[in-house]
Amino acid sequence: MSDTTQSTHTSAAGRSGNPLWSSRLAFILAATGSAVGLGNIWKFPYITGENGGGAFVLVYLLCIALVGLPILIAEVMLGRRGRRSPIQTMTQLARQDGRSPRWALVGWSGVIAGYLILSFYSVIGGWSLAYVGKAASGDFAGASSDTIGTMFGGLLSNPGTLMLWHSLFMLIVLAIVIRGLKSGMEKAINLLMPLLFLLLLVMVGYAMSTSGFSQAVSFLFQPDFSKLTTEAVLTALGHAFFTLSLASGAMMAYGSFLPKEYSLVSTAATIAIVDTVVALLAGLAIFPLVFANGLEPAAGPGLIFQTLPLAFSNMAFGTLFGTLFFALLLIAAITSAISMLEPAVEWLEEKKGIGRLKGALLAGGSVWLLGITTVLSFNHWSDLHPLAFLPAFEGKTFFDIFDYLTANIMLPLGGLFMVLYAGWCMKPQALAQALALPESPVFNGLRFVMRFVAPLLVVVVFVNQLF
Ligand code: TRP
Repeated sequence: MSDTTQSTHTSAAGRSGNPLWSSRLAFILAATGSAVGLGNIWKFPYITGENGGGAFVLVYLLCIALVGLPILIAEVMLGRRGRRSPIQTMTQLARQDGRSPRWALVGWSGVIAGYLILSFYSVIGGWSLAYVGKAASGDFAGASSDTIGTMFGGLLSNPGTLMLWHSLFMLIVLAIVIRGLKSGMEKAINLLMPLLFLLLLVMVGYAMSTSGFSQAVSFLFQPDFSKLTTEAVLTALGHAFFTLSLASGAMMAYGSFLPKEYSLVSTAATIAIVDTVVALLAGLAIFPLVFANGLEPAAGPGLIFQTLPLAFSNMAFGTLFGTLFFALLLIAAITSAISMLEPAVEWLEEKKGIGRLKGALLAGGSVWLLGITTVLSFNHWSDLHPLAFLPAFEGKTFFDIFDYLTANIMLPLGGLFMVLYAGWCMKPQALAQALALPESPVFNGLRFVMRFVAPLLVVVVFVNQLF
């Protein structure tokens, strides 16, 4: 009850002097900065390629609308009610609503998932960093697809180089997290996100001029359900969580700074739409190059690094565009990475009294160490399958395991419990108030989706995968 009586701008209970977002737009920018990242431009295209295209894309879009969006609304709502770091928020809300203290586990699983994700995210962020340099020094100019393939292979085979870029990426993220969240970020995202968007449009424009465009459009948008496996459905569901930064506490942490009068529904919808459009644009920029150059759509995690340089090698001002593109990809990755570290740092600060500097170094340093397993997954340990005795992890390297465990298991489970909390543990009036949504047909529809549709879909996909 107490949360509803606090006044809006002083209600950041449990934290010291953390101001709220300056506007709804500021929140949207930060949350979009978290959502739009490597997930959209690196991961979405390569998993789409691995899972046969159209049908996978369709399932993914359904997952965003029916599962991702309602859970995004629920997570931000919980964060705004709790006004603390994710673990403390869940503890506090459960106490307030007379529920089991075990709800804190949802916060815990989220913080741990964010932590595991960052360990490999930082390595891929490092690849983007490396590619800024390659693009700027004109390495792509006039290069053939063989040269570009060899270039990427060369990067992966060298653990020392990968470590260097992984470390550098992590240092940049740490430097920002240590300064605290909001000062520079609002402004940076405000300018850079539209620029990234614009550059993606340029890339799509180039892709349209290649001979592979129509094939790419049918690949992406003509569903062939015979190619859809149960595993692919789980991957699509997991990616909806990954790409919206759900269930790790990131959105909860950002929601905790959101003034309570803003309606969450349109805010969350904006974020989901922008995120989805960016992913689809990335697909439209990349697959024409794949088909025009006779490359393999299922090439895996290297897909964008083996295709986009081909565009830069041929197009006018390719060096300039290439440098800009990878720089913006890097920035998108950084704004996402920040949101993975933030919940852990906040928790250390709030609960353990560890200052921001020490907390960030502690959390960031250990994530960096864990990231070494991913670095080695692409070379020395590429044949090491540490959990091969479990059927779900057969043939998976450390990198594959962290990816699967987080996106396909931890995030969907965490999100399931968040939406269950919103749908079943909060009274309708309390939910309406927390969402700043009047009790209307829209509210009733949303509550129905939160109680039944989203949870059932997650459970069905899980059960289907198990048996
Ligand atoms: N959504 C980001 C992307 O698409 C990744 C990300 C940021 C994330 N924060 C997260 C994923 C928290 C899961 C959980 O690149």
